[in-house]
Amino acid sequence: MDKIEEIFANNKQWVADKLSVDPGYFEQLGKGQSPEFLYIGCSDSRVTAEDMMGVQPGEVFVHRNIANMVISIDLNVMSVLNYAVRHLNVNHIIVCGHYACGGVKAAMQSNDMGILNPWLRNIRDVYRLHKEELNAITEEEKRYDRLIELNVQEQCVNLIKTAAVQQAYKERGLRVHGWVFDIHTGKLIDLKINFHKILEDIMEIYKLV
Ligand code: CO
Repeated sequence: MDKIEEIFANNKQWVADKLSVDPGYFEQLGKGQSPEFLYIGCSDSRVTAEDMMGVQPGEVFVHRNIANMVISIDLNVMSVLNYAVRHLNVNHIIVCGHYACGGVKAAMQSNDMGILNPWLRNIRDVYRLHKEELNAITEEEKRYDRLIELNVQEQCVNLIKTAAVQQAYKERGLRVHGWVFDIHTGKLIDLKINFHKILEDIMEIYKLV
């Protein structure tokens, strides 16, 4: 069996497994979605949102890109965000980074990555914002881990800058969470982003609603 045939065989088995537990499973799934969470994570093949969170289809709205970035002029992430917040009414937004992130690593090295340059530049900007703290870390591996955490934090800040998030926070107390998936242990780490503090700090400049 080639790799593609294998996938279709897996799918057949998955359908059979679902139906053996609940014959109406797909009928129910077809009726609509009402997820509680929006998850923004890295495209890395090792970081599977639903699997590691232990959630089922219908429970989490997912967006993935290189290095879990929230960029204000990226129509893709902004469409996902606005749809999730304003139409699906999610109550939690999670930005999940991961240790050993290739995107973050690439941003720490001076290589011309072609079309990836403008994307990675956003991560370099995070480095510049936190240069003092990062450059004080002498061990390269630890500096790399810290940049991954700070990148998550800055993407949370980028979310809070949007009108959709500010409005949903005011109306129904929507929250933004920053997590890191530790690829070496499988554990999810809550960075305990201080949502209220960030909101207060940036509102002077970014208040929209
Ligand atoms: Co990654």
